Formats: sequence, structure tokens, C-alpha cells
Amino acid sequence: MFTNRQLFLKHLGQTSLSPLLLEIERAEGVFLYGPSGKKYLDLISGVSVSNTGHRHPEVVSAVKEQVDSYMHLMVYGEMIQSPQVKYAEYLAGSLPASLGCVYFVNSGSEAVEGALKLSKRFTGRSKIVSFENSYHGSTHGALSIQGSEEFRNAFRPLLPDTFRARFNDMESLEIIDEKTACVIIEPVQGEAGIILPEKGFLEMVRQKCSEKKSLLIFDEIQTGFGRLGHMFALDRFGVVPDILLLAKALGGGMPLGAFISSGEIMPALASNPPLGHITTFGGHPVCCAAGLASMKVLTEENLIESCSGKSNLFRDLLHHDLISAIRGEGLLLAVQLKKPEYVKMAISRAPDFGLILDYFLFCNDSFRIAPPLTISKEEISLACRQVNALLDEVQRNTSDK
Ligand SMILES: Cc1ncc(COP(=O)(O)O)c(C=O)c1O
Repeated sequence: MFTNRQLFLKHLGQTSLSPLLLEIERAEGVFLYGPSGKKYLDLISGVSVSNTGHRHPEVVSAVKEQVDSYMHLMVYGEMIQSPQVKYAEYLAGSLPASLGCVYFVNSGSEAVEGALKLSKRFTGRSKIVSFENSYHGSTHGALSIQGSEEFRNAFRPLLPDTFRARFNDMESLEIIDEKTACVIIEPVQGEAGIILPEKGFLEMVRQKCSEKKSLLIFDEIQTGFGRLGHMFALDRFGVVPDILLLAKALGGGMPLGAFISSGEIMPALASNPPLGHITTFGGHPVCCAAGLASMKVLTEENLIESCSGKSNLFRDLLHHDLISAIRGEGLLLAVQLKKPEYVKMAISRAPDFGLILDYFLFCNDSFRIAPPLTISKEEISLACRQVNALLDEVQRNTSDK
């Protein structure tokens, strides 16, 4: 008789030589539970997915209600499905007027693909500018614009005509020119280790795009839905893109992505040729129902307003000799340690301390703290006590005290 762990390693495709290998049976609020009842405090929300916590009752009941009416009916865009319509209307009502037209897809990567294609069709250009250390997903187009040569190189040939500027470097924006179809940027870089834009930088990117008639794409797949203490980063920074990308928390724990633009830009995918993007499951009605319920919870439970107080509490309570900096805003934080090896040790030992922590793809000296926004002050105190104890343990196990 094989254990689940053995079957997992045998039958599930692996892309890591050292997966966490935690078996989870149940999740509720900010906690995940293992088979023996072992409880883990989730400090990463499945990488900014479970913003309203695991299995929020409003989300669960929206899912059940929708399943009782219908599940998948038809490929995206043919039939009028009320969960899609209601969610698109609600999103549009929470965004600037120029972001009123939503194309739902399945994932963040697919939203990126759709947005790149839309930009090429609308502008008639092919050049794409992204940023060093950016992460936009794992499909071929998203990989082509990723800001890490190490990750890109093994998969060449990739999409041609892609160029990278440097985040927070105004001079590097000179690369945006009359041939540029679009500039894609995370307003706060996530996998780079939570890097905030310097004052005026996003405004300058916006200005350059407007001057050259290139479309500006904000990838808010990680920053959306209250993570920064605002519904979206565009509210926080006061810069409006031409296309907005959402995924992760968009589905309230169900798989959903979207690229959102104006009624002027979006029709570029509808003719010459038509069907410029096709998706079978995109905007799945059950996912839209879950996402809408989750987005309403953010407002009804004041989760966005309480975010910055919770962020400050983490900063007040996380103190340790091994910590060299805490970056970020709201509940999107990077805890930088004095050496990368401490991060490795801390993340692998975290479950023993009842915690789930995670790496950043392009920043090996920091770990992520991005819990569900529903986390209470008591749970934050518990989390910080455990993180401090974990770092004590890391310190005990290193030669340099
Ligand atoms: C900023 C950003 N963009 C895009 C993606 C890709 O999303 P997905 O994994 O849903 O394809 C991610 C995923 O981590 C992300 O953080």
C-alpha cells in the first residue's frame, strides 16, 4: 500500500527537486490542517490567492448555489452567463471608467497572453517592453517577457521583439519607442522580492507610453484585491493603465484570470480575423460566482481598511538579529535575512513551527509574508512569535551567531 506522499512523487509531474511535501486535508480561515490534526498558519495565501481566507462561508455558499444552477455551458463569449456579467459589472464599477470591458480567462499567464495579443492587434506593432526581475507567468509568451535570463534561456527560441527596461530606472525607459506595442509592468514587483516603485516612476512609464502611443499593461495579478491596503495598486499609485491584468485572488480560491481594457481597445480581438482569443473554460461560471462573493467580502468586512494596521503589527512584532530589512506594503511583505542560507533553512523548518512560508523566485535572501487579509491581530501575534522562534532555531544551527 503506497502512501499519498509516495503516490504524489510517482504520479504527479514534478518541477522542483525539493517540494514542501506537506499533506493537507482541510483548510479554514488562515489555517491549513494536516492528517494528524497538525495545524499550519498560512503566511502566503497560496501566493496571494486566498485574500479572504480559506473557504470563506460567503464564497462557499456562492459556489454551491452556482453549481446547483449550471457549471460549464459553452466556450467563452457566446452565451450570456449571469455570473460573468455580474462580476464584470462589479469589477468595472470598482475601476476607472476606461477599464470597463473584461475578458475572463483561466489564469494569470493566460491573461498575460491575451493582453500581449490585444496590444499587438490594437497598435499593429510587435515590440514588447517588460522589466528586469519581472514575473508574468510560465506560458511561452509570458516566459519570453520574464525578467530573468536564467529562467528564459533554457526555452529558446522564444517570442522575438521583446526588450527589458530596469525597474525604477527612468533612463532605461528610453527603450519605449514608436515601434512599441505595449509596456508590461508589475506596479510593485512581486517575485523580485517586493520592490515598490520610486516616486514618479510609474507616472513616467505612463507618460512615455502615452507619448509613443504604446499600451501600458499593469500586471496586478499579485497586487490586486486589497493586498497593498487598496483594492488595486492603481488606486494606491494613481496611475491608470490601458490594460489591467488580474488573476490569483480574482477567483476567491477558484481558477480565474482576466484582462481588462476599454470598449475602444478590446474589440481589436473581435474582427480581421475574429476570435482573436479563444478559451474553453475562461470565466467559468462557478469561478466567477466565487470571485464576486470574495470581492464583496473584502469591502463588507473592511479588510482593505484594516490592512495597513495589520502590516504595522507585523513590522512591530518581527524582531530578530537575523533580519536585515522588511520591505513591502500592506500584507505583501518581504522579510530579508542576513544570508540566503538562513532563508532556505527557515522556509524548510517553518512547518515544524506551525507556519507556511515561501521563497521569491528572484530574491534568495528574503521570504514572503502575505497572509489572508482576514488574519486577526491575535493570529498576527502568534505568527510573529513563531517566526521569531523559527529564526532562533536557524541561528542556533548556524556557525555564525
Ligand atoms: C505578477 C504575476 N503575474 C503573472 C503570474 C502568473 O499567474 P498564473 O500562475 O495564474 O499563470 C503570477 C503568478 O505568480 C504573478 O505573480
